[in-house]
Order: sequence, then structure tokens, then C-alpha cells
Amino acid sequence: MTMELEVPIQPKLPFYLRGNYAPVADEIESFDLKVEGAVPEGLDGVYLRNGPNPAPGKHSGHWFMGDGMLHGLRLGGGKAHWYRNRWVKTRALEGVQMRDQFGRADRTVGASNTHVVPHNGQIYALVESSFPMRMSPDLETLGTTDFGGKLDSAFTAHPKICPETGEMHAFGYDWQAPLLVYFVIDRQGNYIQREEIAVAGPTMIHDFALTRNHAIFMDLPVVFDIERAMKGTMPYAFSDSYPARLGILKRGRPSSETRWVSLKPNYVFHVSNAYEEADGSIVIDVARYDEMWRANSGAFDDARMHRWTVRPGASAAVETPLDDRSIEFPRIDERLNGLPHRYAYAPMGAGKSMGVDQEFSLLARYDMATGKRTERDFGQAVMSEFVHAPKRADSAEDDGWLMGFVYDKPNNTSAFHILDAATLESQAKIHLPRRVPQGFHGSWAPGL
Ligand SMILES: [Fe+2]
Repeated sequence: MTMELEVPIQPKLPFYLRGNYAPVADEIESFDLKVEGAVPEGLDGVYLRNGPNPAPGKHSGHWFMGDGMLHGLRLGGGKAHWYRNRWVKTRALEGVQMRDQFGRADRTVGASNTHVVPHNGQIYALVESSFPMRMSPDLETLGTTDFGGKLDSAFTAHPKICPETGEMHAFGYDWQAPLLVYFVIDRQGNYIQREEIAVAGPTMIHDFALTRNHAIFMDLPVVFDIERAMKGTMPYAFSDSYPARLGILKRGRPSSETRWVSLKPNYVFHVSNAYEEADGSIVIDVARYDEMWRANSGAFDDARMHRWTVRPGASAAVETPLDDRSIEFPRIDERLNGLPHRYAYAPMGAGKSMGVDQEFSLLARYDMATGKRTERDFGQAVMSEFVHAPKRADSAEDDGWLMGFVYDKPNNTSAFHILDAATLESQAKIHLPRRVPQGFHGSWAPGL
């Protein structure tokens, strides 16, 4: 047994340090894990998941600021070979500050706590303030990359890999100029295009959208706030005066050709997917908040599945609510990144509103063709994002597996669940040697 940080019960702690959001205190590994059901023979690779896990003795000040920790699971030959967790060994973990006294950023410093994404045989742990951190398939930290000296901006935690070209499209934003830089990494890992996008001000841009022909940027009214920055918390606040817009740039074209369309005020962390229709309309499905961080940046409201449609020549997007339930972390079959998708999968709250504890106890499966939502209720459990993996390379969209961590509240334990994507029925439940805290995003890395 390893020493486990007890789940704090002090009610005054912020939600991200209580319950299953509380960090674990150490790194462990465990082999030949006990499985209920059967691990599919076709799943051969590593599942990796990133999230904030402040080191013992550190108080991160905000959910988004804790030191990154990866949790990994190696599957293959119908077995769950190992589980391990490792902090991303960043300079931030060693106590180095990212900005100097003049506010200048050192992009080799950052918490690397948000996502973990494979591309071109590499695995990158990502946080939107900093350079990607290269990781090994067994979760060891290899060092930051700037793509041969070409990356000169931050790097989003939500790059988009085009399934047709293998390119990784990404961006970096900051509150200092340049405010938004869009760039493309080709399938061999070369940084091949850089465009500065002319947003109207320093906004928080967590994600973006990619279609077969366009990159779409969300310039939304959560704006840099110097007073919050001075307090050392998330330096962004909702603005009633900043206009909400989408910037649409044709792939391969210069930023001067960016077309801007307006939206009603809102905030979005996560795009589910985007694609083009036959008439040239662009469809963008998002987890949309009415607003974000008005009073302070410590609380979250409810995000709901929402569709934006931008018709050719339109100056505003058509905005359509798709559901009234609270969801977040939507994912699709990534072979359809930027292409028309039918299904999306997202953790969902039990009631109409998530409340302060931010506990997801259901997994929702959206059928965009019928508008029907089905769900799997995990009861007294809390689940994180679920990631899709096709059963075979040529499987149909819904013929896949969904995988993610589920926390059993009554027993204070975690398991890794593999579900059938079409039915949400259990295929395998892999018992884990420890509680896995709520985290942000993960990836299935086949063959690694
Ligand atoms: Fe995210």
C-alpha cells in the first residue's frame, strides 16, 4: 500500500481541493490489474489523462493552476498491463515562475496540466500558457519543445489534428502582444505556418475549431483583468462591453483574410466538433456558458450543448441550443475531427445544474441526426471525460469504445471503464490501486 492523501472534508476548501478533486500525494504504479468483464483484444496502446494535482504543500490558488499529473493505463492482448501516475516534471513544479517582474513570459515554464496529445510519434503534455512538454509512453518527462526554434508563442491545450492531412493546427494566446498566434505543424512535426490573428483585445481562448477548409477562433468576452492578476488568481473576468465574435480563416491563407462574425455574449471552453455543409455553411458544436467568471474566477456555471451555424456571407452566427442539461468535456470519434459527425459523448450533471461541487455522474451520448440524447447513469460515482477509440481502423463512427476514469464515492476508489460507444454498456471495469482525481483531458494513443 502507498500513503494516500486523505480526501479533505473541510467544507471551506474550494471545490477543486475537496472530494475527488483533491490531489494525490505521490507517484505509484501497479501491474496486471484486476478486470471485470474483458478488455477488448483490439485495444493496444496507452490511455493517458492529464489534470491539475498540486504538489504536497502547494496551494495552487485556482483549479486551472495546479501542477500537471498524468495518469496512464497500458492495454494490450486483452489485458490491463499497468497503471501509473507521474507528475509532469516541469520547472513550475520546481517553483520557477513563468513571468519575470516585467511580465515577460518564459514559455519553457508552465504547469503542463491540461491535456496530453499524441502527434507524429510524440506525446505532448499541454497547458495553454507554455510550450508543449514531451512525455514518454510510460509517463516520464522528456523536456519542452519549440519545434526547432520556430514556436515563439504559447501553445493551446487543444490542438486539432486533421484526419486527412495529419497536420496539427494550434494557436497560442496571451494578454501581451501578439494576442493570438495561429500555427500549423505538419505530419512530420515541422512548424510550417504562423499567422497573427487580430483579435480586439486580450481574451481567454481555451479552444478553437478546425474544419476541412477553415480554422475558427473564439474571441469571447472573458477578458484579461489586471486587478485579478495582481491578486495572483486567474486574471480574466466576464465583460459586458467586449463583443463576442468568431474569426474564420481559410486554411493556408494569410490572417488578413480572417472573416469575423458576431455572436450573442457567451463563453465556451470546449468545442465538440466543427464541419462544413454542402452549401458552405460552417457548423460548430460547443459546450456553451451564458457567461463566465463575472463575480470571480472561482466558480463555474452550467455549460450546455449548443450549435453555431455560420452561413456563407452572414455577419452573425445562428445560435441553437441543443439540450437543457449541464455537460462539459464533449468528445467525438477523432477520425471525424473537422468533418461531419453524428455522435458526441459528454459527462453530464445529475440535475439541471452542476452546483458548486462540479460532480458529473452521468455520461451523455448525443445523436445529432435525431437530436436524441441517451445516457449512462453512474449513480454514486463521479466521472471524468470519456475518450472514443474505434473498434477497428475501418469501424463505423459509433462502433467504438469509450474509456475514462470513474470515482466510486462511497468506497473512495477509482476504476477505469471501457464502454460500448453505441449502447454505453460496460465492456470492462479495470480496478485501480488508488483514487484518480478529477482531471481535464486525455487521449487514447494506439500502438504506443
Ligand atoms: Fe480543455
